Amino acid sequence: MNSKIEKLENKIAEAKLGGGQKRIDRQHQKGKLTARERIDYLLDEGSFEEIGILVTHRTTDFGMADQQFYGDGVVTGYGTVNGRLIYVFAQDFTVFGGSLSETHAEKICKIMDMALRIGAPLIGLNDSGGARIQEGVRSLGGYADIFYRNVQASGVIPQISAIMGPCAGGAVYSPAMTDFTMMVENSSYMFVTGPNVVKTVTNEEVTSEELGGASTHATKSGVTHITSENDVQCLEDIKTLLSYMPQNNQEVTKKLPFELKDEIREELENIVPENANKPYDMRSVINGIADADSFFEIHKDHAENIVVGFARLAGRSVGIVANQPMVLAGCLDVDSSKKAARFTRFCDCFNIPLLVLVDVPGFLPGTDQEWNAIITNGAKLLYALSEATVPRVSVITRKAYGGAYDVMNSKHIGADMNFAWPGAEIAVMGAKGASEIIFKKEISEAEDKEAKLAEKETEYANLFANPYTAAERGFVDEVILPKETRRKLIKAFAMLENKKVERPNRKHGNIPL
Ligand code: HXC
Repeated sequence: MNSKIEKLENKIAEAKLGGGQKRIDRQHQKGKLTARERIDYLLDEGSFEEIGILVTHRTTDFGMADQQFYGDGVVTGYGTVNGRLIYVFAQDFTVFGGSLSETHAEKICKIMDMALRIGAPLIGLNDSGGARIQEGVRSLGGYADIFYRNVQASGVIPQISAIMGPCAGGAVYSPAMTDFTMMVENSSYMFVTGPNVVKTVTNEEVTSEELGGASTHATKSGVTHITSENDVQCLEDIKTLLSYMPQNNQEVTKKLPFELKDEIREELENIVPENANKPYDMRSVINGIADADSFFEIHKDHAENIVVGFARLAGRSVGIVANQPMVLAGCLDVDSSKKAARFTRFCDCFNIPLLVLVDVPGFLPGTDQEWNAIITNGAKLLYALSEATVPRVSVITRKAYGGAYDVMNSKHIGADMNFAWPGAEIAVMGAKGASEIIFKKEISEAEDKEAKLAEKETEYANLFANPYTAAERGFVDEVILPKETRRKLIKAFAMLENKKVERPNRKHGNIPL
């Protein structure tokens, strides 16, 4: 019996060494943790149970029969994060560069199926050179099996992908179909084809970092939602992100215990400048409204004219979408519309109420925007908010002009409660532009044109650049003092907790992609 136990113990010890100590050392030299170290750090101590530790590949071509490593380049299993069940896979770069073979894919599919059946989040720690080159089409098939499951799981269980090494080819498409893609700075890359292929095909000279490093995807492409300084920070960020979401689409995020006080926030009174053309940081409004230190921003460095992220209000998880007057005056454009639409849809999938903070002068004009389909892309946000059935509350802090007023969670597209601050301006356009159009003749015939324009501007502003016309029609439910915003929101979201909305039976809508 002892020899049988010894045999098992030896196999497990061998499996735990992955591609061997030398390759583990190389991984450490690059400042990276190994797959097993990552899992240990992410999961609650002692909670990880591995599935498929003794799986090996079945390839014999290219002398592969002699190159066998238990686990075949991926560690898979389940465990808990802060007491909550999750399923996890971590690719092991020390085994064939974490490349994906048929059996490697089968292991990932097995835990994806379990996660979906049981209804618990799936976390992928990616560190892979893409398709296992020695396996050809079997590897491509393995990828497609994963992609298919990503789609079946979408909107049913949260899926989070962390990119913790070079990820090329097939290795980038599964993350792209999950809810959140995170990257580690300076050690992770994502590209469909690497710099060498780029040079051959397009003659462009580009480094891996420029082509698909964390900062490129965090700013330019928006492929990544969160970047972290190192592996440990990335794993911490996953834990934080998870804390805002429920286990699956049938549940709501657990409310944290919270003791209510008067919830008046005087600091909110002085954030919006008197001069309507002066910017201010919408994050100060968010921090003034949310529970202390609870705001967790997503897509921070991409399309900065809109801010999205999770926060808590009296312990309840909420998703926030907010125009940012500091960047492009908070205009809606192609990228910000896509960013906010995607976030809105995630919150709606997983029963996370939405708070929309509005200070928007309109859509950004110009050929660049029109030629890049601001019409279709702006419609994404309009569509996403209109279809969302979670509790939805808006606060107009200053401007709500033109089509952007409609889009930014107006009453007309199904918002539940709409508040405005006393300085809010809700109109078709700014007073100057409006006066120049509707009083064109009167102004051109006046002796002092400038004085006439100023007079008409004041007339228009008095009539429309305020929240009261909208409040009179019920488009705004209440004009509130900034300092009482937090209290009003806590009460509104508590009142909306059991909101139920029936939609017409259909296969799915057709969001303008
Ligand atoms: C098999 C691979 C591999 C792969 C790396 N290795 N990629 N083995 N298949 N795709 C192995 C190497 O042979 C090496 O083995 C070990 O992993 C580490 O690789 P290095 O090159 O030494 O590491 P590094 O210098 O850090 O470079 C990492 C890398 C590079 C950037 C990922 O290896 C690379 O470019 N790999 C190929 C990427 C690629 O073209 N993949 C196919 C994409 S096509 P030893 O034994 O020395 O440790 C694709 C199609 C799917 O994925 C499409 C689906 C939609």
